[in-house]
Amino acid sequence: MGGWHTQHLLNSDVFELAGIYDIKEERRALAQSRGIHAYATREELLADPRIELVTVATPNDSHEEIAVAALLAGKNVISEKPVTLSMDSLERMISVSKQCGRVFTVHQNRRFDVDYLAMKKIHDSGEIGEIINIESRIHGSRGIPSDWRGEKAHGGGMLYDWGIHLIDQALMVLGWDVKSVNCRCDHITNNEVDDGFQLDIVMQSGARAYVEVGTYNFIAMPRFYMRGKKGTAMITDWREEAQIVRCKHWHESEVVPVETAAGLTKTMAPRDSITVDTYTIPRPQSDVHDYYRNIAATLDGKATQLVTHDQMRTDLRVILCALRSAETGETVMF
Ligand SMILES: NC(=O)c1ccc[n+]([C@@H]2O[C@H](COP(=O)([O-])OP(=O)(O)OC[C@H]3O[C@@H](n4cnc5c(N)ncnc54)[C@H](O)[C@@H]3O)[C@@H](O)[C@H]2O)c1
Repeated sequence: MGGWHTQHLLNSDVFELAGIYDIKEERRALAQSRGIHAYATREELLADPRIELVTVATPNDSHEEIAVAALLAGKNVISEKPVTLSMDSLERMISVSKQCGRVFTVHQNRRFDVDYLAMKKIHDSGEIGEIINIESRIHGSRGIPSDWRGEKAHGGGMLYDWGIHLIDQALMVLGWDVKSVNCRCDHITNNEVDDGFQLDIVMQSGARAYVEVGTYNFIAMPRFYMRGKKGTAMITDWREEAQIVRCKHWHESEVVPVETAAGLTKTMAPRDSITVDTYTIPRPQSDVHDYYRNIAATLDGKATQLVTHDQMRTDLRVILCALRSAETGETVMF
């Protein structure tokens, strides 16, 4: 991910890349071979007065130590997700950023994914009515990556890796008022950390989010499925448009039953075009570099950071509650 940030900052219209630092000599050499300045030590980087902003893209258990060092050196800091691994650790990071008067936030870049943006637009427009629930799934079939993501000590596991994105998106759609969390974890290819999970989040409003990550799914289920009181929205794949079926008339004069091997059903028969509208909505426009543009505007005092400290707290707390729920088999009240 450090490579991703480097590339984005090389092409940025708001920041100029001063350089990178990696503890691995070969990563620093790779940067230099591409004409990018590599600092020899972290201290050298933090001592460079030209640097306003440091992006931390290292394994999850190291974010706190690096971010705090950067804040204490007077830098503003973006931490990669998940911001850190415990609430105490997050509070320490927030408190140092406040003491130093520096911006501190987390890189929730999947707020720019167009599949999520389409669902949020449908939710916010009210076109399918009050939302009953949203289901958000990511399915792959390659297990968990065989690096530090498979190790508990480094903050591995799919809840921390993909879960944080999907939880953040679901809360951006439904609001941040979480009531309870229930979670089951998979351990199909890895006993140490979850290699997939099924998570229920109940909101104070009564709306529900179901978030699922699978790494042993050779057939993927739809990316998003959302029910409202006036219709249903679905996105089959994150490259696809959102499909909507919206109820025009609740009552039907005649229902053609579906015939199954065991008999007829009218209750479960599909509706016809007299009572529902079926349509797709165009994919929203999105530019993920707006994340960095927002940080630049925040540093200039012209905006506030997109990912707030309270949102960072709630996202992380949901993950910690999910891990506790998976361990105890019980629902955890937020
Ligand atoms: N937002 C996203 O879409 C996204 C995608 C992938 C990864 N990430 C996040 O980015 C972070 C890094 O993930 P990755 O996939 O790039 O991991 P990686 O293992 O590919 O790269 C991590 C790099 O950090 C270096 N490193 C480790 N400890 C260091 C230290 N103390 N100081 C300096 N460098 C150090 C390693 O040498 C390595 O080059 C993680 O927090 C991960 O969750 C975010």
